[in-house]
Amino acid sequence: MNIIEIINKKRLNKELTKEELEYAFNNYLKKNIQDYQMSSLLMAICINGMTDQEIFNLVDIFIKSGDVLDLSCLDGVKVDKHSTGGVGDKITLIIAPLVASCGVYVPKMSGRGLGITGGTIDKLESIKGFKTSLSEKEFLQELQDIGLAITSQTSNLCPLDKVIYSLRDVTGTTESIPLIATSIMSKKIAGGADKIFIDIKCGKGALLKTFEEASKLKDLMERIGKFYQKTTICEISDMNIPLGSNIGNSLEVMEALDVLKGKNGPLRDLALNIASEMISISKNISKKEALIEVTKSLDEKKALNKFLEFVKYQGGDIDSLEVSDFQEEIKSSKSGVVTNINALNIGKLSCYLGAGRINKEDKINYTVGIILNKLVGDEVQIGDTLMTLYKKNKQEIVLNVADYYDIK
Ligand code: URA
Repeated sequence: MNIIEIINKKRLNKELTKEELEYAFNNYLKKNIQDYQMSSLLMAICINGMTDQEIFNLVDIFIKSGDVLDLSCLDGVKVDKHSTGGVGDKITLIIAPLVASCGVYVPKMSGRGLGITGGTIDKLESIKGFKTSLSEKEFLQELQDIGLAITSQTSNLCPLDKVIYSLRDVTGTTESIPLIATSIMSKKIAGGADKIFIDIKCGKGALLKTFEEASKLKDLMERIGKFYQKTTICEISDMNIPLGSNIGNSLEVMEALDVLKGKNGPLRDLALNIASEMISISKNISKKEALIEVTKSLDEKKALNKFLEFVKYQGGDIDSLEVSDFQEEIKSSKSGVVTNINALNIGKLSCYLGAGRINKEDKINYTVGIILNKLVGDEVQIGDTLMTLYKKNKQEIVLNVADYYDIK
C-alpha cells in the first residue's frame, strides 16, 4: 500500500477500505506521512465525500488512536455537549458549568478554533494559567471532585483528531460533513459520556451553510451515536448572525461570565434551552421541569460559582483576562435600523485581527477581537459606533462597513 495510490483512489471517488484508511491516518499520526500528503487526501474527501462504511470505519480508527475513558466509577449520568462551531459561539462556557451545577457530570473534550469559528480550548487558554491538556487521571479526578472537566484532545485521547483537526484548520478542509462527524463523534465517544448533545450551527457564520447540509450531519451523527449505544441528540440552530456581541477569545469568556452573572438576551436563552435539553435527557424529566431547574441554578449564581471553581481547579486566574489596548471604533455613516450582521465577514475579520490561525504554527492573540456595539434590531444614528475592534497594534483597519452591517 502507498499513500499516493490512496490519495488517487479517493480523488477518483472510489471507496477506501478500512485497511487503506488505517494505513493513511495511523501513519500520519506516526509522522510517516507528510502534512502535504494528508492535506491532499483530506481535500479529496472534502470534494468527493465518503460512504457510510468509510465514515464508520474512520470514526473507529480515530477512537482507537487513543484510549476510551471509562467513567463507570462516577455514580450518575454523564452528559457531554458539543457545538459544530460558529462565530461568537461561547455557549459551552455557560452550559457546561450550568449543567454540572444541577448535579450531572459533564466530561468534555473540546477543540481549538476551526476556520472562522472559535474553539472552546482557545477561549479557555485566554485565562492565564488555565491548563487545557489533562491526563486521564486528572480528568477523572476533577470530575469526581467538582463534576466538570474540559480537556483538549491529547496524545492519549483522540490523538488522531488532535493532528487532523489542526491540519484541517489551515488547509480549507473544515467544511466536510464526514470529517466533522468523525472529529466530533470520536471525541465524544472517547470522552466516555453516556449522553451526547450536539448543537449543529447552520448559516453564514458556521461550517455548514444550509439547512440541508446540517440535516445530513444530524442524521449521520445520530446514527454514529446509536451504533456506539450513546443517546445522541442533535439540534440545528441558526448561525447567520454572530452569537452574542463579543467575538475573540478573552472577549468571549468575558461575555460568558456576564451571562453567568445574570445578563439577559439571546445568549442566555439559547444556553437555557440547550442546558434544559441536557438535564431532561440526563434526569429523565420533562424539558419544562428541566428548564425550571436550570433557570434557578443560573439565577442563584450556582452556575457562576461552578464556572469559577472549574477555572481555579484547572489552574486559571479569572482576574487575568485581558483585552488589547489598541481599539478602533467603527462608526455608522447611515441612520436606520440594523437588519443584519454578516457572521461570515465578522468571523473573517476576527481571524484577520489575530484571533484565529492561518498557519498551523500561528500563535493566536487572546486579547484581540470585536465587540458588536449595535445588534440586529437596534436603531442607529449617523456617527454611532457599530463595532469596536480590539487590534494587535495601532495600525488603522480599513474596511467597508456595508460588508458587515445592513442598516435600512
Ligand atoms: N468541532 C469539532 O470538534 N470538529 C469539527 O470538525 C467541527 C467542530
